[in-house]
Amino acid sequence: MYKLCRPRRAFLLSSCIWAFIIFIVVRFVSFLPLRQPDSPPPLFHRLSPPAGNFSTGFSGPLVRIVHQSWASRKLPEQFAEWSRSFSACFPDFRRRLWTDEDNRELIARHYPWFLRRYDSLAPGVQRADVSRLFYMYHYGGLYCDLDCECLRDFRHLLDNASLVFGAMQGLMIRSPRDPAYVAEGQIENSFMYSRPRHPFFWDLIVYLNATTGEMPIMSSGPYLIMSGIHAARQLGIAPSGIRVDGRDFLTVYPPAYFNPYSWMLLNSRHCRLYGRFENRTQLRQCRDSFQDSYVMQYHTQVWAKGSYLISGP
Ligand SMILES: *[C@@H]1O[C@H](CO)[C@@H](O)[C@H](O)[C@H]1NC(C)=O
Ligand SMILES: *[C@@H]1O[C@H](CO)[C@@H](O)[C@H](O)[C@H]1NC(C)=O
Ligand SMILES: *[C@@H]1O[C@H](CO)[C@@H](O)[C@H](O)[C@H]1NC(C)=O
Ligand SMILES: *[C@@H]1O[C@H](CO)[C@@H](O)[C@H](O)[C@H]1NC(C)=O
Repeated sequence: MYKLCRPRRAFLLSSCIWAFIIFIVVRFVSFLPLRQPDSPPPLFHRLSPPAGNFSTGFSGPLVRIVHQSWASRKLPEQFAEWSRSFSACFPDFRRRLWTDEDNRELIARHYPWFLRRYDSLAPGVQRADVSRLFYMYHYGGLYCDLDCECLRDFRHLLDNASLVFGAMQGLMIRSPRDPAYVAEGQIENSFMYSRPRHPFFWDLIVYLNATTGEMPIMSSGPYLIMSGIHAARQLGIAPSGIRVDGRDFLTVYPPAYFNPYSWMLLNSRHCRLYGRFENRTQLRQCRDSFQDSYVMQYHTQVWAKGSYLISGP
């Protein structure tokens, strides 16, 4: 009896081992389709844009231009007024207003290989989000949405930096393991400063170029920027203090500097989301509640349900 059992035990044992191996193989193979052949390359798989413009891009004087964009040249009066506030802060800066037509022209002329991708994006927010990556990469300078008001000069914060963002209080993404997690808070694409030809923007553009279809929410404006920051930090190139040509690769300033009113926390009883101020007094009170800030962003969100008209006097 016992003698018969031994070979059977060995047989059972080897069956078990084989079953386990087959299980592992089947499981692995069934996961393979998740790695789609046309999935975009990981962010920051490389660090230098073509022709080594990487290092030259970091030195040089402050880039004195403010980019803003609107569908046409005719700005609503409130936006025109906020836009002029940047000339008051930086009299030596040029302001450039980009229309939808200008955006497409910029890409057609300088980045024709991106044009098909650009045209495949939804008109409006998606194209506007992508176009500002090109202002930053091609010209560099400051970008701020039209609902930004400049309260005072902050060039000293840009001097030693090559790429600047401002955080906003509130965390939409709470897990540090999320590819778009940034510890400082929410990073919007509504405010940025960069030196031209910064590899950060090049990599985002190449990444988008390798995607197809509508931009999924997680690669639209702010999330794309946050994913870029996260990826750069994972690669060890973006903790502050890492310098290239004497400048920080990437600087994220605290919410109090450039985005003190959080649309997530609604941390002011004077401010109104979507630009729904009842009169100018209320608007002034909102701004004055953050008077230490350099830039005030009112979050009018005109592309969604916002308004840029103040109903009262
Ligand atoms: C590198 O920079 C120079 C000067 O800004 C520019 O003319 C040239 O087109 C850039 N090359 C590439 C490949 O981006
Ligand atoms: C910029 O960097 C230089 C050299 O490290 C330093 O002397 C200077 O104080 C810095 N400027 C600002 C505004 O931080
Ligand atoms: C952009 O995408 C097109 C089409 O897939 C490709 O031919 C081109 O090489 C890409 N350009 C860059 C700079 O990645
Ligand atoms: C502005 O609106 C607020 C809130 O409705 C109101 O309390 C205040 O009296 C108004 N001020 C002016 C000058 O109309």
